[in-house]
Amino acid sequence: MTGSRDRWHSRTSFIMAAIGSAVGLGNVWRFPYVAYQSGGGAFLIPYFIALFTAGVPMLILEMGLGQRLQSAAPGAFGAIRKRLGWFGWWAAGLSAGIVIYYSTILAWAWVYLWHSLKLSWSGRTEQFFVQEVLQRSTGPDAMGPPIWYLVVGMALTWIAIYLILRRGVRNVSRVVMVTVPLPLVLLAVLLVRGLTLPGAMDGIRYYLTPDFGKLAEPGIWLRAYGQIFFSLSLASGVMIAYGSFLGRKAEITNSALITGLANCGTSFFAGFAVFSMLGYLAQVEGLPVPDVTDSGTGLAFVAYPTAITKLPALNAVFGVIFFVTLLTLGIDSAFALQEAFTTGFHDRWKFSTEKLARVFVLVAFPISLIFTTRGGFFWFDIVDKWICDFGLVIAGLVQCFAVGYLYDVQEFRAYLNRMSEVRLGGWWVIALRYVTPAVLLVILAMNVRTEILETYAGYPRWATTVGGWGTLVVLAVLGYVLWRRSES
Ligand code: PHE
Repeated sequence: MTGSRDRWHSRTSFIMAAIGSAVGLGNVWRFPYVAYQSGGGAFLIPYFIALFTAGVPMLILEMGLGQRLQSAAPGAFGAIRKRLGWFGWWAAGLSAGIVIYYSTILAWAWVYLWHSLKLSWSGRTEQFFVQEVLQRSTGPDAMGPPIWYLVVGMALTWIAIYLILRRGVRNVSRVVMVTVPLPLVLLAVLLVRGLTLPGAMDGIRYYLTPDFGKLAEPGIWLRAYGQIFFSLSLASGVMIAYGSFLGRKAEITNSALITGLANCGTSFFAGFAVFSMLGYLAQVEGLPVPDVTDSGTGLAFVAYPTAITKLPALNAVFGVIFFVTLLTLGIDSAFALQEAFTTGFHDRWKFSTEKLARVFVLVAFPISLIFTTRGGFFWFDIVDKWICDFGLVIAGLVQCFAVGYLYDVQEFRAYLNRMSEVRLGGWWVIALRYVTPAVLLVILAMNVRTEILETYAGYPRWATTVGGWGTLVVLAVLGYVLWRRSES
């Protein structure tokens, strides 16, 4: 079995690929805002505590489980308890769900890359995004046909994923040597440009001024854990699949630590590039910094493009740099997600890598076209919310219980320590058994409560039921069918 398994080129390529999956759009458009709204510089305290009490322990668990059992989530959980195989397929299904909507952001980025050449959005960024690019309708019930250029962007994304994945992990090893450092270099270019603009320091001050009073609010701590969770690509099966391509003697603990620190370092760094530019924008427009944008899509597709058109020179160049940064940030998260799902099939049925990549793309592409319609934005928003706030949190919980209580976790720790450069202490077991599940339970309870009290973003209840809960149920059914088949 070991002999035929696809392998990383080197330890460096494994770590690079793990960083590539972790470092994504979440680092650029989510972290800086969460930090700024949650106490600025003071937020780094709960953030790093979350990293060490939940993020790194879970990373070690996932990478270690994949490496030890030499299989992706379905096989790995099936090996712990037969019935958990169903859960493994469900978790892998979450990653398939994420890549299908995550590709939408990449489709927008392709469209914007094209428009960067002419800076088509000049003077009307918001209108350009909502009315001209998305052609957004009034709500999730008004979908309309797919919009052709978004379909083109979507097709480019899937073709790129297919070309990268068809030759397997060896090829991924090479690709991440470009898609991981390149966006960092480009972010550095944007940072230098941003810092040399007037107003930059106001932006940075907004980003980092510590407000220690905020640390007394429990919500801030939950946000820190939520951010760590999404940002490290946890509970989606990605790190289990990636770990499974490691050799029998591979080091885990230190690799997980490096991945966690590199990811969080990138987030912190990206915040400077984002906020220096927002500080400039605020000054040009004569607005306070918080008024120039919201987080999320508004930041990447409205505020940042506005700032680019206001630059004194080389606007198109910076436009291209920004959207190439987004594309290279996102693509390695996207193919990691697809790999997390398809590896389960390879483990069980030995399909070739090429065939799996091809069939997945041929099925996923038509589904993803839902998000290229005029109402697609709303469905994108709903699916994203449910998979991240409910799906991944539930998956994380089950994972902690499975390994913390049903697997011999002390013996697992001893196993990891035999190969490790740094010793894993008893704190790891405490983190997995108590700290992480407790935090996840609270997050889940709060999310469910909010959802019952008010429907998300004011969408009609039927839409969140179909798009949100419906997606999770469909994945559970799919997981069940795949599990039964894999058992027979
Ligand atoms: N970690 C990625 C980001 O920060 C998103 C992601 C989540 C990727 C889950 C894979 C799995 O953008």
